[in-house]
Amino acid sequence: MKVPFVDLHVQYLNLKDEIDAAFKNVINNTSFVRGPFVEQFESAWAEKLGVKHCISCANGTDALYVSMKGLGIKPGDEVITTAHSWISTSETITQAGGRVVFCDTDEETFNINPALIEEKITSKTVGIIPVHLYGQACEMDAIMKIAGKHNLWVLEDCAQAHLATYRGQRVGTFGNMATFSFYPGKNLGAYGDAGCIVTNDDQLANWATTYARHGGKGEHVMEGINSRMDGLQGAVLSVKLPHLPDWCDARRRVAKSYTSLLEDTEGVETPVIASGREHVFHLYVIKTDKRDALRQSLAEKNIATALNYPKALPFYPAYAYLGHQPSDFPNAYAHQSRILSLPIYPEITDEMIDYVASQIRQFN
Ligand SMILES: Cc1ncc(COP(=O)(O)O)c(C=O)c1O
Repeated sequence: MKVPFVDLHVQYLNLKDEIDAAFKNVINNTSFVRGPFVEQFESAWAEKLGVKHCISCANGTDALYVSMKGLGIKPGDEVITTAHSWISTSETITQAGGRVVFCDTDEETFNINPALIEEKITSKTVGIIPVHLYGQACEMDAIMKIAGKHNLWVLEDCAQAHLATYRGQRVGTFGNMATFSFYPGKNLGAYGDAGCIVTNDDQLANWATTYARHGGKGEHVMEGINSRMDGLQGAVLSVKLPHLPDWCDARRRVAKSYTSLLEDTEGVETPVIASGREHVFHLYVIKTDKRDALRQSLAEKNIATALNYPKALPFYPAYAYLGHQPSDFPNAYAHQSRILSLPIYPEITDEMIDYVASQIRQFN
């Protein structure tokens, strides 16, 4: 048996007629960049989340950058974010003119540990970027309380957490702004790069729309950037969106099966779902001391796995200038050599799940 890490082709085959028709429609209408298919998706996604505005962007990284420019970062401003994420979260802080301040993670959820945020706040701190990593919401009550107390903005990075909830409320609806990625492998994925910003703030929405479209169409009220969604991406996202709740359920079922098959396996720690969270399992990440040997053994059995991510952000050469030590981020540092992402996608079969779990059990 062969188990890929994700299988986007099987999802395409399930929706082939609708996707082919949608693409044909975009091409017939020559609505290649923005246009009605993108606008339709923006409205549908805003409605699904229950927010006022969805501003499409070329990708999730641009969405973070545009949001931070909109939130008014000035040189020297400090932004606190998690030590454990994809580099988009932190590189855009620097690009927008700010300074990255990393914070360690919670041992169980891999998300930013709110108990450590306040000690990172200085007179220069302007905002916090929580990342709902792997599909599980951060501790938003605590984060919003700290932000309110210190008058900081909150920008939620929801790239991995479409429709995840915290105490029944959707991620992306807590902070001043939030961003999503629709990279093909995401829970809601386009057929190329795509992303968006969501917000309930009319002024921020207007600013971000203008900035991402060259500072305004016709009248350039400022210099902006070019970050637009393609019509083809808007169309495929509109086809997929109605299926997303079922796909989230399917991912939760897969996670439940893995956990019940692996939770008694010695040396393997299965993911923890914190209280009040509805996890959407973009990734199913186990922890084990024998990570590299297990990964190698699974590869030999035709089981694809991934490392999300091989290093915690402060320990990449890109952040050597910050001069951090492992003891600055004990959890993020410990996790980087112990985490292993198992194959997960809505269409994975029970036989595949059993096969992956049995190979892990046999390895031990
Ligand atoms: C946590 C996180 N933030 C931001 C991004 C950036 O999204 P994109 O790849 O669409 O630029 C990603 C996706 O890779 C991500 O996983």
